[in-house]
Amino acid sequence: MTVQSPIKPKPVTPEEAEAAGVTVPRHVAIIMDGNGRWAQARGLDRADGHAEGASGVRQAVRAARKYGVEYLTLYAFSVANWARPTPEVEALMRLLVEFAEKEKAELREHGIRVNVVGEIEDLPTATRHAVEHVIDYCADGDRMTLSLALSYGGRRDIVNAVRSLAVRARAGLVLPEEIDENFFHREMTTHTLPDVDLLIRTGGESRVSDFLLFEAAYAEMQFLPIMWPDFREDTLVDCFREFTKRQRRFGRTGDQVDVQGEVPFDPLQPK
Ligand code: FPP
Repeated sequence: MTVQSPIKPKPVTPEEAEAAGVTVPRHVAIIMDGNGRWAQARGLDRADGHAEGASGVRQAVRAARKYGVEYLTLYAFSVANWARPTPEVEALMRLLVEFAEKEKAELREHGIRVNVVGEIEDLPTATRHAVEHVIDYCADGDRMTLSLALSYGGRRDIVNAVRSLAVRARAGLVLPEEIDENFFHREMTTHTLPDVDLLIRTGGESRVSDFLLFEAAYAEMQFLPIMWPDFREDTLVDCFREFTKRQRRFGRTGDQVDVQGEVPFDPLQPK
């Protein structure tokens, strides 16, 4: 098992990032896949792969903070993951406690706020308390928001939002014509997050697996062959380089973007 290193990012100015030839996305979301295969390839337990994955989390947080990412959202545990064998689920729940306890001082020191998307109430009490504690402890962070997706499902988040609006509409508290994309988003557990700019998945599969279905509508996607425990700062910087090459058109033509620049699609702007 790797010795855990603290999160000690060296600040990078936007000018330094530009000099390094990268545009830093505002919101990066990551599907951290491949822990199990990483472990199995070494004759280890899947739980060892997750433990090694926790050090990938530290690398990613450190690098994102260093390059000035404002929002980093990590898919740490999906609704579907509850169906895994109990010892694996328990190991993941313990790792979350460990992460919260070991990293909280560094997170706070570096202005990293912690947030949860998904259903924190579903977690075992000890995990929930540890996560709630790190959220409170880092609440003043204003440099980056680290969101952990826990017991998260994109479809479930959408359906819960629909249900909550339906209940309020039935009570006459919401008018159907008031409901637009922004209004709807306010009902979701991701309501404090902007749209995703860059969605990365490690582990060699090219699918989104119920992650941020609403919020990643215009995200650039990058699917990496490496397993999550092998994720390093350089991996993230390579993703930024690739992101820098992409032309984000948001429904416009390439010629329009050349003239007008990248104008994010905003359904509320008059046509
Ligand atoms: C998917 O890999 C990964 C997960 C289900 C859990 C992700 C958890 C971590 C990276 C560590 C703990 C998180 C924090 C925030 C401390 P997999 O097990 O499906 O891999 P496989 O596809 O190779 O089986």
